[in-house]
Amino acid sequence: MAKISFGEYIYLRRRLAALLFISWPQEGDFSEENENMMMKLHERVALFSFVIALALPPMAAAQGGADTYKAKCAMCHGADGSGKASMGTKDLGSADIQKMSDADLNAAITNGKGKMPAYKGKLTDAQISDLVSYIRTLKK
Ligand code: HEC
Repeated sequence: MAKISFGEYIYLRRRLAALLFISWPQEGDFSEENENMMMKLHERVALFSFVIALALPPMAAAQGGADTYKAKCAMCHGADGSGKASMGTKDLGSADIQKMSDADLNAAITNGKGKMPAYKGKLTDAQISDLVSYIRTLKK
C-alpha cells in the first residue's frame, strides 16, 4: 500500500468528511424521483467507507506506535525521532535507520543494543511492530 504521512492522512480524512457532508441528503430530498440518485449516493458512501476501512488498520498501527513512542522512546530519541546528541541516538528517519528491515528494527527494539534498553517482556510483540510502523512514518 502506498505510504502517506500523518499530515496527508488527516487531510484526506477532512476532505472525505467534507465530501460526505456536502453530498449527504437534505430533508426533502427523499422524494420518489430522487430514489435513484439516493441509491447511487449510498453506493458511493459504501465504497468510500470500504476504501477507508482498508486504509485504516496500518494507520491505526502507526497511531498506536506514536503513543507508545511518546511514552517510552521519545526521552532518548527525541519527540520527533531526530535523535539526541546527549544520548548518542541517530535520526530514526535517516537513511541509516530506514534501510534496516522491519525484522532488524523489531530485533533492535526487542533485544536492545548498546545503551538502547531491551523491550522484550516490557512491550507486547504487537506494540513493537506498531513502533516499527511508526518509525517508517518518520522516513525523510
Ligand atoms: C535509554 C535511552 C533509550 C530509550 C528509552 C530507547 N532507546 Fe532506542 N536507542 C538508544 C541508543 C543509545 C541507540 C543507539 C544504539 C547503538 O547504536 O549502539 C538506540 C538505537 C535504536 C534503534 C536503532 C538500532 C540500530 O541498530 O542502530 C532503534 C530502531 C531504536 N533505538 C528504537 C527505539 C524505540 C522504538 C524505543 C522505545 C520503545 C527506544 N528505542 C527507546 C537509546 C534508547
